[in-house]
Amino acid sequence: MCGIVGYIGTKKASPILIDGLLKLEYRGYDSAGISTMEHGYLSNMKDKGRVKNLYNLEGIDSLEGTIGIAHTRWATHGKPAKENSHPHMDNSNSFSVVHNGIIENYQELREFLTNNGYHFLSQTDTEIIPNLIHYYYTKLEGSNDKFLQAVHQACGDLKGSYAIEVLCKDEPETMIVARKDSPLVIGVGKEENYVSSDIPAILSYTKDFYLLNDGDLAKLSNTDISFYDSSLTPITKELKNIDWDVSACEKDGYEDFMLKEIYEQPKSIRETIGSRLKKNEKVNFEDIGFTKETLSKFNKIYLVACGTAMHAGLAVKPLLERLCHIPVIVDIASEFRYREPLIDANTLCIYISQSGETADTIAALKLSKKQGATTIAISNVIGSSITREADFTIYTHAGPEIAVASTKAYTSQITLLTLLTLYFAEVSESAPTDVISDIKDELLLLPEKITEVLKDDSKIKEFAHKVYEEKDIFFLGRGTDYTVSMEASLKLKEISYIHSEAYAAGELKHGPIALIENGITVIGILTDPTLVEKSVSNLQEVITRGAKTLIVTNQEINQTNYDEVITIPNTNPFISPILSIIPLQLFSYYISKEKGLDVDKPRNLAKSVTVE
Ligand code: G6P
Repeated sequence: MCGIVGYIGTKKASPILIDGLLKLEYRGYDSAGISTMEHGYLSNMKDKGRVKNLYNLEGIDSLEGTIGIAHTRWATHGKPAKENSHPHMDNSNSFSVVHNGIIENYQELREFLTNNGYHFLSQTDTEIIPNLIHYYYTKLEGSNDKFLQAVHQACGDLKGSYAIEVLCKDEPETMIVARKDSPLVIGVGKEENYVSSDIPAILSYTKDFYLLNDGDLAKLSNTDISFYDSSLTPITKELKNIDWDVSACEKDGYEDFMLKEIYEQPKSIRETIGSRLKKNEKVNFEDIGFTKETLSKFNKIYLVACGTAMHAGLAVKPLLERLCHIPVIVDIASEFRYREPLIDANTLCIYISQSGETADTIAALKLSKKQGATTIAISNVIGSSITREADFTIYTHAGPEIAVASTKAYTSQITLLTLLTLYFAEVSESAPTDVISDIKDELLLLPEKITEVLKDDSKIKEFAHKVYEEKDIFFLGRGTDYTVSMEASLKLKEISYIHSEAYAAGELKHGPIALIENGITVIGILTDPTLVEKSVSNLQEVITRGAKTLIVTNQEINQTNYDEVITIPNTNPFISPILSIIPLQLFSYYISKEKGLDVDKPRNLAKSVTVE
């Protein structure tokens, strides 16, 4: 979704801004623009389309300003068009603003401003912000710190979510930024400062960051940063060192980020396990520190998330219920938040979000906190919004995930949730130790087994080549294999645009089998020894009706029944999704490549969905 970059320092700003925007392309966007301060006036260059189009805009090379703001837009209010692109300026061209988020009361504010003589050139909600700042600025004649005060007053009128950067023509050495429910970080350099919605955009310039909280404002010059809370009281912030490797945000010789991230999974799983699990030791979650009494208080656990992260929750629900004997409800954040869920002080709510910035997941978390639940955030991004709201945070440590379609974050989320489950079971002594030990041993073997799965992708590639022109592809499985089917089907839709559905194999006869006709592709996942025979029978039913089949399995089955069989290493069935999803991530990847699509930036999708 929309991305923000800002620079204030001694270097020419425009190349730094465009470089940052290029690194934010993965978020998904439809237009881009920059604004810099040029000898006493504000330049504003923008257009719909790709960031690289900015290089073709007339005059872009002659921008000399050393302070600037930049944006990639993902249309919400108003179609992708030059006039709707950011930055937006006020009527007098005194203020330039970029904005991520949605201003919910913009109609009302637009009316107010129109009644006060302002007019609008775009259909966006954002355009009210520079005009509102101008409105207050002119009323503050003679006061100190007019620019900061005007931005603060304007923010006070905004309902909804925002991360903004503001430049003012009359204060050419200052940038003001503010945030509420939309991410914004400040990177600190020597005689220069950077701003971004995402750490990777500016990671090649600095590793020292300040993270803004909801309602915070910051005033930046080359050498100073002052922070204020929502009542404009000065506050201090702790500088955080983010030790992500810059090369982790580059493709490192891979053709696409998605492929790189699929191949990184042995490493990311190792990092997720980290020091939480060592051979023959208890699982370590000192940072959570639940006692047997605390755990016994919970009579229900919610796992709430969106998209792939929600599928990670589904994959772990069976284990959590089996080992902890507590009912587990996996819910989609956008449904959960509006359903008046039954939550109280005896509920544990776990929120899963790679980015930690998904608007619905954050809102769901806030709701459950208000109703007295204990909350845990699982995120991949240090300091992300969700981690600042939850009672407890645990990080997946999968490293930056850039491709829109999530791969390594999913397997790390399952790994971390499995570790958490084992920890709960050990603390509450709710499961036999040999059952726990077996899963622990298998978790430690995962990096090696993933490497084995990744050794040869030729069969997957060939099968993708055979079926890439299909219109529909179905996935079948039972138990955790069904949860993997859902994730595999989502992956395929996201990046290949092929219609795909996942069905619980036992549900086939209750409707979906009507869709099976000669030549259709069905993918079966068979890793649970207790369910394999039943799934094999269901697959036989589709084969009889003419389906082409690809099977991912670690069980002994009669391989001659199927068109292609991908054999993966055996493991404990509760964690088999971590292995069985990998060939299917590759399957989606190769189909997308066969179709010549943009794997990392699929149409209409955004990496981090920061609006409802
Ligand atoms: C978007 C992404 C998905 C992701 C979902 C949840 O839809 O395209 O890949 O699974 O958001 O994101 P989160 O950052 O909360 O895990």
